[in-house]
Amino acid sequence: MTLDFTGRVAIVTGAGGGLGREHALELAKRGAKVVVNDLGAARDGSGGSGFAAEAVVQEIRNAGGDAIASAASVTDFAAVEDMISTTIRTWGRVDILINNAGILRDKSFAKMELDDFRTVMEVHLMGAVHCCKAVWPVMTEQKYGRIVMTTSSSGLFGNFGQSNYGAAKMALVGLMQTLSLEGAKYDIRVNSLAPTAATRMTEALFPPEFLQALQPADVVPAMLVLTCEHAPTRQILCAGAGGFEAAHICLTQGIWLPQAENTAEQLAQRLPDVQDRTQSVVPESGLAQGQLELGKAFNSRK
Ligand SMILES: NC(=O)c1ccc[n+]([C@@H]2O[C@H](COP(=O)([O-])OP(=O)(O)OC[C@H]3O[C@@H](n4cnc5c(N)ncnc54)[C@H](O)[C@@H]3O)[C@@H](O)[C@H]2O)c1
Repeated sequence: MTLDFTGRVAIVTGAGGGLGREHALELAKRGAKVVVNDLGAARDGSGGSGFAAEAVVQEIRNAGGDAIASAASVTDFAAVEDMISTTIRTWGRVDILINNAGILRDKSFAKMELDDFRTVMEVHLMGAVHCCKAVWPVMTEQKYGRIVMTTSSSGLFGNFGQSNYGAAKMALVGLMQTLSLEGAKYDIRVNSLAPTAATRMTEALFPPEFLQALQPADVVPAMLVLTCEHAPTRQILCAGAGGFEAAHICLTQGIWLPQAENTAEQLAQRLPDVQDRTQSVVPESGLAQGQLELGKAFNSRK
């Protein structure tokens, strides 16, 4: 089975380097027309130049592909709307959106300035919100869309010094959960990708032999599977160094306490039963929690 993207139009944000560049190159190689978006910012989000995006566009064109550059900051909704309008004027549709642009401002929470928290939220979360909001009417109208949120193990599982980044990355999973439900009837499928790769973001984290093993290109198959015609929806795929995993947000079966026993002391005692993951489920929507709880309450009356 070949995953073919001929005729598809893809927007990859933050595609001037690192993972985004690999996503853009591979989508173009497989026939997609690609908008290479990048502000050309430093790792902490400072500065900016359209040069990084232009260079990747040139690479794609040199290889015979079709691409245009956008230096829009994903934090600027008007600029994002312009990018979508230009895409529609040029190619008439947008099939794929990869929300990949990102920055880091790591510090322990005690030392973190609120400004660093807000800026990281602004780029990762609001940047993705802006891009989704701008493509949503296009995708609903054409009844087709594939959106990827680039999340992170820092958000899913936590990482010292990354409270701002982790909060933003987990917020993207929340955005995915609802957009995948709202997009379903328009065949808009929304997924999350948690990569591990050697880029300027991680170069100080790993020793050289690990960096050598963590080629950004090794993450690309996960992006392709999440954006192809037969993509799943509401999945969190993890990828790095050739390894692939799925992360799930589960709900345990838990317990039910009758009113007379519904005390903090009882709950504290039964906490291991509440936490027991045997028979846990991955709910299809937030409604499942209330249904499970009401089910237990009503079943107890029978
Ligand atoms: N490298 C990893 O191991 C790893 C792990 C988890 C998540 N991620 C995520 O993957 C994505 C890509 O990161 P990377 O590792 O390739 O790092 P990177 O720094 O090479 O790529 C990020 C790109 O985003 C661009 N960018 C920053 N702010 C922007 C803005 N406001 N508008 C448009 N573009 C902007 C930067 O110029 C840069 O080219 C990020 O979202 C990152 O958080 C990476």
